[in-house]
Amino acid sequence: MIAADAKTNLAEEDLLFRLLRQLDLAPDASQRAIAAALGISLGRLNAQLRSAAEAGLIKISERPGPDRRQRFAYALTSRGGAEKNRLADQFLARKFAEYDALHAELTGTTSGLAPLKYRTKLMQNNLAPIPELYVSYDSAQKLKLEAGDLISHDLTSRQICDLELLMNGGFNPLKGFLSQEDYDGVVENMRLADGTLWPMPITLDVSEDFAENIDLGQDIALRDQEGVILATMTVTDRWTPDKAREAEKVFGADDVAHPAVNYLHNVAGKVYLGGPVTGIQQPVHYDFRGRRDTPNELRALFRKLGWRRVVAFQTRNPLHRAHQELTFRAAKEAQANLLIHPVVGMTKPGDVDHFTRVRCYEAVIDKYPGSTTTMSLLNLAMRMAGPREAVWHGIIRKNHGCTHFIVGRDHAGPGKNSAGEDFYGPYEAQDLFRQYQDEIGIEMVDFKHMVYVQERAQYEAVDEIEDKDNVTILNISGTELRRRLREGLEIPDWFSFSEVVSELRRRFPPRSKQGFTVFFTGFSGSGKSTIANALMIKLMEMGDRPVTLLDGDIVRKNLSSELGFSKEHRDLNIRRIGYVASEITKNGGIAICAPIAPYAATRRAVREEIEQFGAFIEVHVATSIEECERRDRKGLYKLAREGKIKEFTGISDPYDVPDDPELRVETENVEVDNCAHQVILKLESMGLIAG
Ligand code: PPS
Repeated sequence: MIAADAKTNLAEEDLLFRLLRQLDLAPDASQRAIAAALGISLGRLNAQLRSAAEAGLIKISERPGPDRRQRFAYALTSRGGAEKNRLADQFLARKFAEYDALHAELTGTTSGLAPLKYRTKLMQNNLAPIPELYVSYDSAQKLKLEAGDLISHDLTSRQICDLELLMNGGFNPLKGFLSQEDYDGVVENMRLADGTLWPMPITLDVSEDFAENIDLGQDIALRDQEGVILATMTVTDRWTPDKAREAEKVFGADDVAHPAVNYLHNVAGKVYLGGPVTGIQQPVHYDFRGRRDTPNELRALFRKLGWRRVVAFQTRNPLHRAHQELTFRAAKEAQANLLIHPVVGMTKPGDVDHFTRVRCYEAVIDKYPGSTTTMSLLNLAMRMAGPREAVWHGIIRKNHGCTHFIVGRDHAGPGKNSAGEDFYGPYEAQDLFRQYQDEIGIEMVDFKHMVYVQERAQYEAVDEIEDKDNVTILNISGTELRRRLREGLEIPDWFSFSEVVSELRRRFPPRSKQGFTVFFTGFSGSGKSTIANALMIKLMEMGDRPVTLLDGDIVRKNLSSELGFSKEHRDLNIRRIGYVASEITKNGGIAICAPIAPYAATRRAVREEIEQFGAFIEVHVATSIEECERRDRKGLYKLAREGKIKEFTGISDPYDVPDDPELRVETENVEVDNCAHQVILKLESMGLIAG
């Protein structure tokens, strides 16, 4: 607190500063004009002028001429000039300190601004601190208590990733989840309502039920999956998006073969809420804490290390020698230091888990020349949106203090569409990035496709090899690497580092030692349970892995006894089965599931969950509905026809026939043992059981 007399002093000094500045700027102004500019009376001005003259700060002289209003001329003495500069510095320093305090109160960090005279050199734009959405620690404690009374939204894994980057400035300039106007602009033309470039809709999707209970202008608490309040949000917007349009515009096609389109239609809530976010605390991470950095932490690190140019490498895959070579070249080309910036939030379903990858990265980072390279983990939820995603990644890296960004062939590509074609052209991401790089403020370094030249025992950029016909060019694709791991085959030293290979081997034992799930689907009475039982016995006879049968009826008795047969309940039932099967698969066991599982989207969700850990073998038991009804072992079809059982699959409820199961078995006139044997043969052909 400033004492009263100190305050008076400050006010007097301010007035003197403003007087000297005024006389400096307009020495010929009349007394009346000077008094008006300073907001004081003529009497007070006269007193000020007199004391300034007595102190030798100004010189007052008579001005010849008839105009009585401009009888005097004023000039600053050199002492007056120096005093004006001193007071200006003092004034600026105070204003900076006030600004800094306000910034800290609003964001929880200091602004990093300093009066020019105290700077040794101007802080580089990419290294100056970036705004965050956090409040100070003390305010956060208060806010947390108050937020206890607010309606809470439990964030999904993806929303937690988005929120973290919103709060820590990774998504700067966003200040919260997009409003409807911003969303429309982003979807249509990659721009927020004010015209700022932003390519990816960052939306808070919720259920219709939740949205109905929210009034516009209301604050809600955003909690993580353990119930910890991470932020509050003032809901300014609520709308039901046209998801097909979002898919077309943002991802290029309304095709659920695209993981983000699938997420949009089958995982995300129906309603979006928008509004500014107030950050209370970062999501908690228990893993690799020392390797996670906020944008400001990275900027501070680069400042400390004196790294003025930094090239970022985005990755969601383990790094092998070719990557090391290409990143090293990119850094040399950009004359920059290198940031390996892998995504550890959410990547493409089926990717190598981040724990394994980070252990691999840790091994590779030591292979770079000392102090040229660092590695930091980015908790981003990728969308696999190709070109738009590349631009988004560029903005995020710019926010993390980087000046250059490596964009590869098919950057953030989602794979094939449902017609078996690539969603995006291989260089579309580079083309779009090039178009926007100036606006983003980060320079693209395009990816060189590196291959191993056996005769010279080194990696070279494929387009720079002039004697292609006379040398042996070696390369191992991702698919080939997975095959070698699966089958326990050699992975040559020229391809990867021994530490990386042994990590991958630990994570991916040969298929015949991995867990897997056999998922039967078909009508009631199709024979799923009978074949599943026979299969279980055959696998138990082999005896190398524990086998668990999750039959439809058994599950409904033990796991899902409260559920009926509405779409919601069936989905919940199948997701429970999927969850248990994924745990069994993860831990190296064999899960056999045999529910009806009538919906393709739910089967796909279960597949994705399980394929993170092992193989998923969908077996369609293709007995026709007519045959099932003819057999009617449990008498249920009769009851269904009589309307005594409602929503009966195949009679009064739908069944999506699997388009592309690993195996389809016909049961009419085929013995159960033979059906089970077909599954065994399929498992053998996939390498899941030893031949
Ligand atoms: S689902 O759709 O996958 O959740 O169904 P599931 O858990 O496999 O349960 C199917 C068994 O429940 C009995 N049953 C019905 N099936 C379909 N529709 C309706 N309305 C229904 N009501 C009861 C039936 O015995 C099914 O067993 P299975 O083994 O498939 O014949």
